[in-house]
Amino acid sequence: MAGKNILLGVSGSIAAYKSCDIIGALRKKGHDVKAVMSRDAGHFITPLTLQTLSGNKVVTDMFELPEKWDVCHVSLAEWADVILIAPASADIIAELAQGSADCALSAAVLSAKSAVVIAPAMNDRMYNHKATQENIARLKRFGYKFVGPKRGHLACGYAGTGHIADLKDIIQAVKKSLK
Ligand SMILES: Cc1cc2nc3c(=O)[nH]c(=O)nc-3n(C[C@H](O)[C@H](O)[C@H](O)COP(=O)(O)O)c2cc1C
Repeated sequence: MAGKNILLGVSGSIAAYKSCDIIGALRKKGHDVKAVMSRDAGHFITPLTLQTLSGNKVVTDMFELPEKWDVCHVSLAEWADVILIAPASADIIAELAQGSADCALSAAVLSAKSAVVIAPAMNDRMYNHKATQENIARLKRFGYKFVGPKRGHLACGYAGTGHIADLKDIIQAVKKSLK
């Protein structure tokens, strides 16, 4: 299952730093990884970090003028064998559930034909809110797969369900979706 193209969507969650380990683990398995960032992901991790670790150009802005003509969110989606969104914020989940194409990440997902795997990470009240739960149920009906979140220590200082899934479970979910 090596040698696949994985588009990693990183969104505006405090767990964005975990995307570094995810890139490392996927590359170790022989996959090519490209990262695309949601509108607010840059508050949590820099494109430079993701670009350096992935060895590929990172897309942060779908309106950036490419060196060579290219509609980058569409070509990224075409390139991907699977799109993994890890971490997925409550906001990006809401955007995807609405079919919005408001940022490079949501636009890529909306133009994708590949499997989509989502690893949510957020405060437990955000996760358990009816709006988020209904958005997740809608995305599951689209065929998107979810991994986690798990119960754990949250950034707000207490334990709850909203912690990003373990790295091994995320990698396993990607592997399953590539079959
Ligand atoms: C310090 C801090 C941590 C945050 N962590 C999370 C988080 O883990 N998950 C989440 O869904 N939102 C979190 N948020 C809120 C999102 O960053 C916010 O909704 C943002 O607009 C999401 O952007 P996106 O659509 O680019 O993902 C956090 C905000 C702050 C200020």
